[in-house]
Amino acid sequence: MAKQRLQKVLAAAGIDSRRNCEELILSGLVRVNRKVVDKLPAFVDPQQDVITVDGRTIRPAPKVYFLLNKPKGVICTSSDPEGRRKAIDLVQTKERIFCVGRLDTETTGIIILTNDSELANRLAHPRYELPKTYVVGIRGQITGEQVEKLKKGIWLAEGKTGRTSVKILRRGHTESLIKVTIGQGLNRQVRRMLAKVGLPVKTLTRTRIGKIEISGLGVGKCRPLTRAEVAYLEKTTQVPA
Ligand code: URA
Repeated sequence: MAKQRLQKVLAAAGIDSRRNCEELILSGLVRVNRKVVDKLPAFVDPQQDVITVDGRTIRPAPKVYFLLNKPKGVICTSSDPEGRRKAIDLVQTKERIFCVGRLDTETTGIIILTNDSELANRLAHPRYELPKTYVVGIRGQITGEQVEKLKKGIWLAEGKTGRTSVKILRRGHTESLIKVTIGQGLNRQVRRMLAKVGLPVKTLTRTRIGKIEISGLGVGKCRPLTRAEVAYLEKTTQVPA
């Protein structure tokens, strides 16, 4: 396993926040393989090195992976000065988990939560990003021309959007339902793409991340990822040898 920052390993083992763990290290309470480590940066291999805090040996936290169907009004960050409901609070675990990527506050649907920062970093890397599917409620109807524009790519501040597929699920006079699959994960990407072609979004729900689907998971509910799903995420983000 790659070496990690000592304060990060301590925080992941549930000792305290990263900042407070830095203080613990600097105060001389942390030993790695019996030697006091009181300077930063310090790097350790949590699987190999014996780390103690005030004489107590810490164990690497077991890796946990969850899928949450995020409700509206819930945020994906780990802290919020405004005190809004957080996605991490909807998952029952004693491990320190965080969201992999973001769904904006008004968006519902699936999001992965984990304490595995290595996998999360790989999943966020543009090289490995998995396609994500959204069901979008739009005002009015989508025209063939708008579909073509979305598929060809839309210029956003970050550049032109990549491969996009669009499927019309239901056409209504005042409201329609479309399915949009994108390969990137830019901030508010679907809303911004649709705004650029003049389509106001009424509802936005993420239903799929790669092969992982929402199927049967109620709003606000979560479930652990299956072993097969975790293996799939590991495999699709494998660093070439
Ligand atoms: N696109 C958006 O506009 N919002 C999200 O939350 C995700 C994708």
